[in-house]
Amino acid sequence: MKTQIPIKSTILALMALFFMISLFMSCKETKLIQAKSGAQLWSENCQRCHNTPSPTSFSQEQWKTIGLHMQSRALLTNPERDKIVSFLQSAN
Ligand code: HEC
Repeated sequence: MKTQIPIKSTILALMALFFMISLFMSCKETKLIQAKSGAQLWSENCQRCHNTPSPTSFSQEQWKTIGLHMQSRALLTNPERDKIVSFLQSAN
């Protein structure tokens, strides 16, 4: 007698597996970002194109606006931008 592999449940099992893998990967990525401090993100991302201006060069409000402008240039996520901006504001 031939044993048949039930295709439907195999596909379902594979889909569940991929889903769990992608969940695991996204958690890992989130943790990686969370592990980096604002100062670290700032030093890694903000001197690729120009010298990093000192935190004291701009006011709290100006850093917020600069953060929004430079986020798109430096291709930062929102949490990364927030961390950099709070670091700049706290060092101001
Ligand atoms: C891809 C290149 C690039 C990256 C990365 C980048 N910048 Fe800029 N930045 C520019 C350019 C170009 C200008 C000047 C034009 C402008 O203001 O849009 C500028 C201007 C600025 C200014 C204004 C300087 C002045 O004297 O008026 C500040 C402050 C600044 N960037 C901060 C940052 C911070 C903080 C980061 C990191 C989050 C960052 N930049 C990342 C390209 C970049």
